[in-house]
Amino acid sequence: MPDPFSATRCAHIAVVGAGWWSQGWHLPHLSRNYHAQITAIVEPCEAPRSTLNPDLKTTEELQKLYAVPVFKTFDEFLASPEAEQTDGVIIATTHSAHYEVGMKAIGRFHVLMEKPMTTDLAEADWLAQAASKSDHIFMLNNTANFRDSTEKVHNMVKSKIGQVRSVNCYMAAALLWLFEDPENVGWIKPTGSMQGNGFGLGQMSHALAWLYFVTDLEPEKVCCSMLHSEKTGADITDIAIVHCAGNAIMSIHGTASMPFKSYFESTKHIHMKIFGSGGVLSYGGEDQHPESGGLRLELFDGTDQHLPGFYFENYQAEGDGPESLQVFLSGCTGTKILNAADAMIGRKVVATLDAMYKSAKTGQFEVIKPFETANEIDYTIYLFD
Ligand SMILES: NC(=O)c1ccc[n+]([C@@H]2O[C@H](COP(=O)([O-])OP(=O)(O)OC[C@H]3O[C@@H](n4cnc5c(N)ncnc54)[C@H](O)[C@@H]3O)[C@@H](O)[C@H]2O)c1
Repeated sequence: MPDPFSATRCAHIAVVGAGWWSQGWHLPHLSRNYHAQITAIVEPCEAPRSTLNPDLKTTEELQKLYAVPVFKTFDEFLASPEAEQTDGVIIATTHSAHYEVGMKAIGRFHVLMEKPMTTDLAEADWLAQAASKSDHIFMLNNTANFRDSTEKVHNMVKSKIGQVRSVNCYMAAALLWLFEDPENVGWIKPTGSMQGNGFGLGQMSHALAWLYFVTDLEPEKVCCSMLHSEKTGADITDIAIVHCAGNAIMSIHGTASMPFKSYFESTKHIHMKIFGSGGVLSYGGEDQHPESGGLRLELFDGTDQHLPGFYFENYQAEGDGPESLQVFLSGCTGTKILNAADAMIGRKVVATLDAMYKSAKTGQFEVIKPFETANEIDYTIYLFD
């Protein structure tokens, strides 16, 4: 039932890719959200499978459950009357399909694309180019970026920290069970032009997207060492140095190697420190326990401010969706939004991870190719009128 107290119209949303994440998060969130209406599902596989949930529904069951048509391809959906009724699409396919579906969707619909934007730097360039020419929203589902606390950090970095000089980023999770299981092919095996797969693409993509939003830094070259799982070959510990424009430097430490206790207790531990001309901002804690951490601002003018509460990724399955989804739905109905994970942030993340995987192989600094200019890329063939 629509919220009787809200004047906001419903956003009409199609979900592309109906695997583990869509069935457990996007579809139930949308169906419980008063401001959303699902128009269609696109899923090529009649019985989607995931090692993370053996009980995924078939497309026939999804069609009945959500009372919407299920299309086998995005092209079939585009040719359907449901596409005419659709404001926005959520792209939650396997990584390798993000690009193709994204290029067909940008310019016609608002897009919420799952992270990482793509696993190929050239594709990231093309998506970013197309998104920059579109008058529709293009957002990545880096949920941490859309937290109120992240906007606060972003504003404090701008107004108090000044010119960012160095960053320390630490992210640890109890995820060996995920990256050391050979069955979890999508999380551990590189495909296409991917230089590797594991904790970097799967998890550091969140930390990097957050850092690039709050600091605005522009990565230029990367040196990285990785430890790999003996069982699967996936990277499970990544340590990198990222040189950025403006003589700034970041040190990155990510690892899946925390001891696993239980799904509730085994939270992600995150600590970020941002040093700049005005002082240092520290933000850290355990992502599912806000009381475990907070923000501290220590400035050269003597300020020493503590704000309790730590919020990072929002991956609650219950409820009507994380802040990123709420922002997306608002944008789909015409409200002006702050896009805290746009295509340029996605491109920086893909470029950094690509260079990290390359550097881990070559043992050298890998230079990041600057973002291509619009004239060099003929992306127009992918845009719709
Ligand atoms: N934001 C987060 O915290 C978070 C968490 C988990 C997963 N994810 C992301 O969500 C996405 C999906 O992950 P998943 O675990 O559900 O994967 P999955 O493999 O379980 O599901 C992906 C589905 O996409 C379908 N698909 C493939 N190509 C398609 C195409 N061209 N058109 C339509 N559907 C297509 C597959 O058949 C599959 O059912 C990935 O990008 C992943 O990184 C994000």
